Amino acid sequence: VGLVGELLERAARATPSAVEDRATGWWLRHTDSAAWWSGAVLAHGPADGLAQRIAAAERFYAEQRVARFQVCSDCPDGLDRSLAERGYRLDAPISLLTATVDALSEVRPTPAISVHADTAPGPDWLAVLSATSAPGTDVDRETRLLGRVEGPQTYLTAHSDGEAVGIGRAVADAGWTGIFTMATVPRARRRGVARMVLSAIGCWARTRGAPQLYLQVEHANVAARRLYEAAGFTELAAYHYRVRPRAAEGGPACEDAQL
Ligand SMILES: CC(C)(COP(=O)(O)OP(=O)(O)OC[C@H]1O[C@@H](n2cnc3c(N)ncnc32)[C@H](O)[C@@H]1OP(=O)(O)O)[C@@H](O)C(=O)NCCC(=O)NCCS
Repeated sequence: VGLVGELLERAARATPSAVEDRATGWWLRHTDSAAWWSGAVLAHGPADGLAQRIAAAERFYAEQRVARFQVCSDCPDGLDRSLAERGYRLDAPISLLTATVDALSEVRPTPAISVHADTAPGPDWLAVLSATSAPGTDVDRETRLLGRVEGPQTYLTAHSDGEAVGIGRAVADAGWTGIFTMATVPRARRRGVARMVLSAIGCWARTRGAPQLYLQVEHANVAARRLYEAAGFTELAAYHYRVRPRAAEGGPACEDAQL
C-alpha cells in the first residue's frame, strides 16, 4: 500500500466503524453514525479474485441500506470499473490534502477568539458539533464513534465573547496528524475561527511529534477547500466513493453530513 492508502487507513482508524471485518485483507466496515465514510470498504492490498471479493463485501452489507466502497489509487486495478458495472454510482469526490506544520501559513491571532484543547469532547465542543451537523444527526452516536478512537487525539474549541463558535479534532498516528470535524457555527464564519483552530492543531501536531498533516475535503466544499489552500495544504490525491442502495429499497442513500 502506498502513501495514499496509508493515509486513508489512518483516517479510517480516526473515524472508527461500529463493526469491522478484515479477514479477507480488505477492511469491511459498518457504521452506526452519520459519518457515512466510516462505513465504507477500504479495498487496499489483495487484488486477486476481484469479483469474489466484491461479492463477499456485498454479503457483509446485506442487512444495510447501502454497500459503499472507497476507491483510491491504492485500490486494485479494475475495482472502479467493476463497481460501476454492478450498478454502483460514483459519490462524493474527495481531495486528500497534506501539509507539514512548517509549511502552514502564519496566523495572526485574533484577540476576540480563543482556542482551547481537550483530550475528549466536552459540552461546548459537542454543542458546536450539534449546531453544525446535518439536521437529525444523533450526536450521541457521533460521541460513541469518537469514544472508539485509539491513540493521541485533541479536541479544539474556539470561543468568541464567551460562546463556543468553532471546533476541530486531530488524531496523531505514526508521524502524521489527521484533521477532522472542522466546523464553525454559521453566525461566526469568515472571522478567522477555523484558521485559528487549524493553527492550534499545527502546534499540537508539532508537540506530538506528528508534524505531517493530512485531511480530506469534498470537492464540492468550496469554503473548506479555500480555507485549507490558504493555510498551505496541497492535494496529494483525489478519490471517491461508489455506492449502491439495496435493490429492494432504492432511492437516495447518502446522508448529507460533511467530512
Ligand atoms: C469551512 C468552515 C469550517 C470555515 O470556517 P470559518 O471559521 O468561516 O473560516 P475562516 O474565517 O477561518 O476562514 C479562513 C479562510 O478560509 C477561506 N474561506 C473560508 N470560508 C470561505 C468561503 N465561504 N468562501 C471562500 N473562502 C472561504 C478564506 O480564505 C478565509 O480567509 P478570509 O476570510 O480572510 O478570506 C466553515 O465554512 C464551516 O463550518 N463549514 C461547514 C462545515 C465544513 O464544511 N467543514 C469542513 C469539512 S472538511
